[in-house]
Amino acid sequence: MTELPSHLRTTADAYDAVAVLYADLVRDSLDDLPLDRAVLAAFAELARDAAAGPVAELGCGPGYLTAHLRNLELDVFGVDVSPVMIGLARAAYPDLRFEVGSMDALDLADATLGGIVSWYSVIHAAPREIPSYFAEFRRVLAPEGILLLGFFESGGGPVAAFDHKVTTAYRWPIDDLAGLAGEAGFAEVGRMLREPREGERFRRGHLLMQAQDR
Ligand SMILES: C[S@@+](CC[C@H](N)C(=O)[O-])C[C@H]1O[C@@H](n2cnc3c(N)ncnc32)[C@H](O)[C@@H]1O
Repeated sequence: MTELPSHLRTTADAYDAVAVLYADLVRDSLDDLPLDRAVLAAFAELARDAAAGPVAELGCGPGYLTAHLRNLELDVFGVDVSPVMIGLARAAYPDLRFEVGSMDALDLADATLGGIVSWYSVIHAAPREIPSYFAEFRRVLAPEGILLLGFFESGGGPVAAFDHKVTTAYRWPIDDLAGLAGEAGFAEVGRMLREPREGERFRRGHLLMQAQDR
């Protein structure tokens, strides 16, 4: 990977520092989240039906969600900017492929993926950077490929920074994120909002989008 810009270096270093603790916290988290599993299952079915290529989990952290997607019969690999996270993912799931990289500059040819999952991983990108992230997602997805975004929803307010435990993150109005994805060449398939559970601070947003023919 080429030298990271300083804001991404900050994110990578912050996740490197907490990777082991983070992996312990999230490893089994989906067990108690039926709505999250439902949206992931819907994504898997749509991506399998599109049959447009392999799936990438971008910002995969310690890889538990990549493994969950594999268990949903997807041909999937993970990418993360944190080398320590990728080391943990490789150790925990040696049968899966994980690569260090940034999701805004992927080492992938145009139109080669059938699906992308970004599960709480664009949350650290400043709002002005989101269009370039979505443009990169659209570049690597084949037409009809499926994008799933998981993120913190802003509860009726505008996009806003908050003091995420690892490094600054942003909460988004779901319509704003859907609009930016639309401008990048995606059409909305559906959305799911769920209220925070005990111990969670914010409502969760999920957007399923499909890459449009250019
Ligand atoms: C909140 S964690 C989510 C990890 C995993 N998807 C999950 O749900 O547990 C955010 C992850 O995104 C990664 N990340 C942030 N910005 C990234 C970027 N530009 N490219 C690749 N990974 C990134 C971080 O290193 C971190 O592992």
